[in-house]
Amino acid sequence: MSHEATPNEADHSAPAPVFDATSKAASFLIAAIAVIAGLVMGWVNPFMSKSASSQGTMIDTLFSIVLGITTVVFVIVQGFLIYSIVRFGRQPGDDEDGPPIRGNTKLEIIWTAVPAITIVIIGLLSYRVLADIERPQPGERLIEVKAFQYAWQFYYPEADVTATELHVALDEPVLLKMRSNDVIHSFWVPAFRIKKDVMPDRVTEARITGTELGTYPIVCAELCGAGHAVMRSQVVVQSDADFKAWLATAAAAKKAPQPAATADPIAYGRQLFTQYACDACHTLDDANAHGQIGPNLNGIGSRAANRVSGQPAEAYLRTSILKPGEYIVEGYPDAMPKDYGLRMSDAEVHALVTYLLGQK
Ligand code: CUA
Repeated sequence: MSHEATPNEADHSAPAPVFDATSKAASFLIAAIAVIAGLVMGWVNPFMSKSASSQGTMIDTLFSIVLGITTVVFVIVQGFLIYSIVRFGRQPGDDEDGPPIRGNTKLEIIWTAVPAITIVIIGLLSYRVLADIERPQPGERLIEVKAFQYAWQFYYPEADVTATELHVALDEPVLLKMRSNDVIHSFWVPAFRIKKDVMPDRVTEARITGTELGTYPIVCAELCGAGHAVMRSQVVVQSDADFKAWLATAAAAKKAPQPAATADPIAYGRQLFTQYACDACHTLDDANAHGQIGPNLNGIGSRAANRVSGQPAEAYLRTSILKPGEYIVEGYPDAMPKDYGLRMSDAEVHALVTYLLGQK
């Protein structure tokens, strides 16, 4: 039968470990460093670029206000905690039980009411900002966004122009109507602070007004398949004149008499290459394409015959367009849309294959 030491005996032999002055100082130091580091990260926020949209600026202001309120709450709560540890922690030689305290109605009312009021205030501020960033603007430009595995397409209905980059004019309000061709994606422009799901079965909307000239990344923020990580594009905020010039050029290129396959097969193939957004993912100098997601197509006409044994160049390219999962080039994701067979006519497939065969 074992004999357990009573507290009194323990006092005389080995004093129970206590929260001594060194531990208190260390705890206080760690807490102080955490608080200061948190504040610096929050206020300076090295991970977030300057806001480039009016919506982003409103969201940043809200973020700063919420951070300010939560900082005050955090410092008060942690202050009480640290004070209690220092002031009421067990002292050396103190083996008494704590005093039996049963509730404190006044205190409980205070610590229920203060957080409740704080949360209502934050909720009202957030609602106000949400209403502001979603409010229709006079004269806003409609741009239709289409997401598919794994690229973005932007359609300007007024000019009947489709682009793989989003171009907007400085200070012009834009309404994005977004729809997915396949699975759920998420349209995210960190510099605009806007992130919105893009669904296959409904249209979602987002409003943006670019306020800083420049080029900013568009990122897919919803895991959508093997090519999710490379589903990126960019938004170009340009002056009103530059934007109009860009749109006019794109519209003119589209309205130009479409070269028939027989008239100028190379020009026709090049046009199809852009029209079907191949340039979003592939690099091909002849088509002025700089995509990085899929294999580089410079000189593909010389290589196509040697890619898969028993497959002549023409058949290899045709299969690669219509059944992109069939021959995945090593090191590249299975990222190409699978629906080109539905979207392209036979003549178009033939013209595109002919064009690519000519890329020696
Ligand atoms: Cu689309 Cu992730």
